[in-house]
Amino acid sequence: MNKSNTDNKIPIYQLESKEKVLDYYIKWTQNNQYNEDMLDWNYSGPKNATEMFNKYINDKSIFIMDAGCGTGLVGEELKKIGFKNIVGVDFSQEMLDLVPKDLYQKLELADLNKSLKYQNNIFDAIICVGTFTYGHVKAHSLDEMLRVIKKDGLICFTVNEGIYEKYQFNKKITELENDKKWQVLELKKSSYIINKDIDAWLCIAKKI
Ligand SMILES: C[S@@+](CC[C@H](N)C(=O)[O-])C[C@H]1O[C@@H](n2cnc3c(N)ncnc32)[C@H](O)[C@@H]1O
Repeated sequence: MNKSNTDNKIPIYQLESKEKVLDYYIKWTQNNQYNEDMLDWNYSGPKNATEMFNKYINDKSIFIMDAGCGTGLVGEELKKIGFKNIVGVDFSQEMLDLVPKDLYQKLELADLNKSLKYQNNIFDAIICVGTFTYGHVKAHSLDEMLRVIKKDGLICFTVNEGIYEKYQFNKKITELENDKKWQVLELKKSSYIINKDIDAWLCIAKKI
């Protein structure tokens, strides 16, 4: 497969408006199809990101936001390695309806492209997997995520390789570093949706 053709690998990548994306998730969640597709497609994003997250965090009691938590696949990985104090945030009620009970302390319906209702400096860490992708959450939201993380708190996220430059995540990551808003601890290409031959950039950064 041609790596440069990421745009055409999954139908949802063609959608640009919030309304169309939300509508797509209504259909994708029917009969648990989203979770089944992720299994069939060998979706490795949650495992790779939580492994990176775990490498930099020792305290399992920290307060975490799973930004764009969807059906809870990242929450499940976090739970396996001992993290428990997690808020899941997503704008699709249908995705949140598929989250297993007791995985998160709380689930919140919110648009991550907009201002968040949280006060400054309250989360110890944010993890955001699969959410920086076509038609989803844009690079400017990293400012708002940083606002709600405590100083020295960590943010770990994937960016679909197909939008990394197109949506200017490359520039945003450098800009936040140049502005001394965060220190990038690790940034690398990683497997993501293996059976569709799609990689992602995987990043962990510390708020300054
Ligand atoms: C590909 S899924 C990933 C879900 C989960 N993190 C995982 O790894 O399985 C992307 C998620 O981002 C959510 N999302 C997309 N745009 C959003 C927005 N503007 N605000 C909040 N959530 C959004 C979708 O509803 C969906 O649950």
